[in-house]
Amino acid sequence: MVFIFAGNWKMNPVSSEDAKNLFGAYKRLAKKFARRRIFMVACPSMPHLGLLSVAKRPKNLALGAQDVSFEREGAFTGEISPVAVYGVGADYVILGHSERRNAGESSLLVVRKIKAAIKAGLKPIVCVGESIRDSEGEFWHQLRGQIEETLSLLSKNEIKKIIIAYEPVWAVGEASKGAMKPEDLHETVLFIRKVVSQMHMFSNAKALTILYGGSVFEDVAKDLREIGNVNGFLVGRASLDKKMVEKILNAIS
Ligand code: PGA
Repeated sequence: MVFIFAGNWKMNPVSSEDAKNLFGAYKRLAKKFARRRIFMVACPSMPHLGLLSVAKRPKNLALGAQDVSFEREGAFTGEISPVAVYGVGADYVILGHSERRNAGESSLLVVRKIKAAIKAGLKPIVCVGESIRDSEGEFWHQLRGQIEETLSLLSKNEIKKIIIAYEPVWAVGEASKGAMKPEDLHETVLFIRKVVSQMHMFSNAKALTILYGGSVFEDVAKDLREIGNVNGFLVGRASLDKKMVEKILNAIS
């Protein structure tokens, strides 16, 4: 089983030169860690996606977008077609990231985007995660609710085509409290597998690919992988620094 390292570059870097350099480092690292069964996905900003997709890359390095439209084509000013994104060479798309949900994106919209992305041939990386972890355990209801809202309208076949990125919002980004405890991650990943398999009457909950995201850095990566029992990471800040990416890959492989 491969371990996925997906870099969510967000709106960084802004210059194409810097994006090319960072992607160059991903190519080198993908080659270096191929034997250790690491699969990398770089998710640059949209203008850089087209630019980077023309370069040759190792088989274990793919490209992803950070969002797509819920429609394939038409009069939708400013939107980006999943068909066009697939056409320029992306295979993945992050959908329902908490930064987009905070900007007003509803679970229903995320569902429509997931369906459009799958139809276009893209593999959605669907983000879910509670906003806070309270001591009363209210967050379990919030998490269950969000998973159900986002995934219950998908068919069994569509569920098999997505990757789930569990990103507790309180652990994401500069203002966060740092990564989740690996033991808590383990418990939550089991919970997510259970909720999704109950909803879709899956007999093989283990078949779901689940990534963890939220302050993944080199010091916590190994335990998050081993104790947390996830299939990969969705990495924000650390994914922009080639040295940091290499340190994380060394720590986990
Ligand atoms: P972070 O972001 O690694 O900077 O916490 C993760 C994400 O937003 O996907």
